[in-house]
Amino acid sequence: MERKRILTGDRPTGLLHLGHYVGSLRNRVRLQDEYECFFIIADLHMLTTKNTTEDIAAVADNARGMVLDYLAAGIDPAKCTIFLQSAVHETYELALLLGNLVTVPRLTRVPSIKDMARAAMLDVEAIPFGLLGYPVLQAADILLPRAHLVPVGKDNQAHVEVTRELARRFNNLYGEVFPIPDDLVQGDSLPGTDGQAKMSKSIGNAIFLSDDAASVRKKVQGMYTDPNRIRADIPGNVEGNPVFTYLDHFDSDRAVVEELKERYRAGKVGDVEVKERLARTLNAFLDPMRERRAYYASQSGLVDEIIYEGSLRMRQEAAETMRIVKKAMGLSGTFNRIARKAEERAKKLGRAAAARAGEPA
Ligand code: TRP
Repeated sequence: MERKRILTGDRPTGLLHLGHYVGSLRNRVRLQDEYECFFIIADLHMLTTKNTTEDIAAVADNARGMVLDYLAAGIDPAKCTIFLQSAVHETYELALLLGNLVTVPRLTRVPSIKDMARAAMLDVEAIPFGLLGYPVLQAADILLPRAHLVPVGKDNQAHVEVTRELARRFNNLYGEVFPIPDDLVQGDSLPGTDGQAKMSKSIGNAIFLSDDAASVRKKVQGMYTDPNRIRADIPGNVEGNPVFTYLDHFDSDRAVVEELKERYRAGKVGDVEVKERLARTLNAFLDPMRERRAYYASQSGLVDEIIYEGSLRMRQEAAETMRIVKKAMGLSGTFNRIARKAEERAKKLGRAAAARAGEPA
């Protein structure tokens, strides 16, 4: 039986951290055995808010770093397809065709568009056509491999909703071509080392998957805990304390964690001891990733090769989908016939000319 397909991915904005692991990577690693997975490096989406030549020049390194993080986390290129969006030109084609199947007010109502504009310091009036079309471009990504399932964070749920509407609209107008994709909203979010609700590179409260053991130790030692606890014998708060949130996520020895929590609540353990435990836990968790990272990084050109092979594979899928799409729409049918005829005629003329010149055809 054919496995169902997944498409998901990220913009290449830089290194991934524990928050990404808990929020999405962990899930992808699990899903790659059950589904045929396509992971997109969405560099065209990045252009909707960052498109200077410097931004674009940073894509290659960011994409390599991100893919190395994927591989370190356990995504296996033998099981799935990792590809670069801009290398699949059918993406541009399908996005343009889908753009005719949705209204401007519908896209204006997608809340993340304004959020992204705000984050990029853009006025509502200054939102470019491309940013408004962000969900349409994303729909092209999802529909090109005719994916069934799209694991995303909450902020992207509305984009998958737009994708479903576009797929339905297309199917109604031109015939059943696309499966209607489901979203799989995933992921716990992880607080930052500073206690803020979200770990984020831009805030500077992140522990990266690529951090070495000493950096992890240092970051953990500097972590926010219960601010009221100025001495080890003062009863502390476990809830909302990121040190314990991390232990809950990454320490598999539940009994030890529960015992630590109890002593913390009773004022019978110092922050230093708890943080020691967390540093050891996180480093033990990251060690297998470090090994995989070292393996992939040690072979020069391997990461590029993986992206290249994945992009080729995706292009085959995309070409097949676009053939079906254009056929369903009746688009360029006439031109295809003309092109084929012209090619046959040119071959014939070439053979005749060769025969006249006495050359073997
Ligand atoms: N929009 C996603 C982000 O927030 C990236 C992305 C682009 C994506 N195309 C996708 C995610 C298709 C899931 C499916 O960075």
